[in-house]
Amino acid sequence: MIRRAATWTLVVVGTTLVLSACSSPSMLDPKGTEARSVARIWWLMFGLAAGVYLVVGGFILVAVMRGRRTSDGRSSRISDHAFVWLGGIVVPIVILFVLGVVTVNTTAALRRPDADPLRIQVEGKRWWWAVSYTGTGITSAGEIHLPTGRPIEITLTSDNVIHSFWVPQLAGKLDVIPGQRNVLRFKITHPGDYRGECAEFCGIQHANMNFRVVAESPGLYERWVSQHRNAPIEPASDVAASGEHVFQSQSCAGCHAVRGTQAHGTLGPDLTDIGARPLLGGGVMTNTPANLARWINDAPKYKPGVLMPAIHLSTSQTKSIVAYLESLK
Ligand code: CUA
Repeated sequence: MIRRAATWTLVVVGTTLVLSACSSPSMLDPKGTEARSVARIWWLMFGLAAGVYLVVGGFILVAVMRGRRTSDGRSSRISDHAFVWLGGIVVPIVILFVLGVVTVNTTAALRRPDADPLRIQVEGKRWWWAVSYTGTGITSAGEIHLPTGRPIEITLTSDNVIHSFWVPQLAGKLDVIPGQRNVLRFKITHPGDYRGECAEFCGIQHANMNFRVVAESPGLYERWVSQHRNAPIEPASDVAASGEHVFQSQSCAGCHAVRGTQAHGTLGPDLTDIGARPLLGGGVMTNTPANLARWINDAPKYKPGVLMPAIHLSTSQTKSIVAYLESLK
């Protein structure tokens, strides 16, 4: 009996460890100050829960092996009353008090504003994220560039339903609520490419509302900002130039913006650096020329419910518009 239980415990723990190793990102692999504080509380809770589990499990094992003693003088020396008071009231109160104090202190520390933070605005859309970098004129979508080692303040808004902004390795979740400005504060400790997702069910494409955070050293970040402040350079090839013409003359420019051109639409994602983004449609496909052509011609097929309609272009129009968009970096 005990052997079978031990085997099952091993199977469950082993499977959990294997699955947790495969599926990144994990909030237990923190790369930012807020995520580190959250992970610390998680480990404290895990340690306490494991301790309680072992103690209770130990008592059960002892009870099973020794059996109930009769009143022959060999019964337990701990009285039932003391046992209930200690195990059922005193210990739980101490544990909950410690967890309560640590949680409230950590939450207060995480919400405290820093001096001179880098401010970013992020708006939850259906179903993608619009990003604007305060004071730079840079707007983007689905991707946030941030420097390491500097306090960051992300103001979160929504113009539709409630979303939740979550980059597990950098910070805890924060709801994105229409009519409200929520502020997420954290500092990134390690450069890297971090996956983020929407953590609140927000409609049919909730699962495809992913984004990524590119964290770089302050020097590389400043270089990225100065490169992206300017509008993209003129299309380098004839095909891309005719693609720009198709983009401006078709319905694309009505919904999308490309800085420095006649396209100022705000309904869909800003496409100023679409060629540099690794994913399309909030993560439904990787950004390759073939996928971009598929997406433009029939986005609802790959992301049902998306606001972008199927745009039926000729083969040469598709080829040129893909060349144009992929050149925007
Ligand atoms: Cu947005 Cu789920």
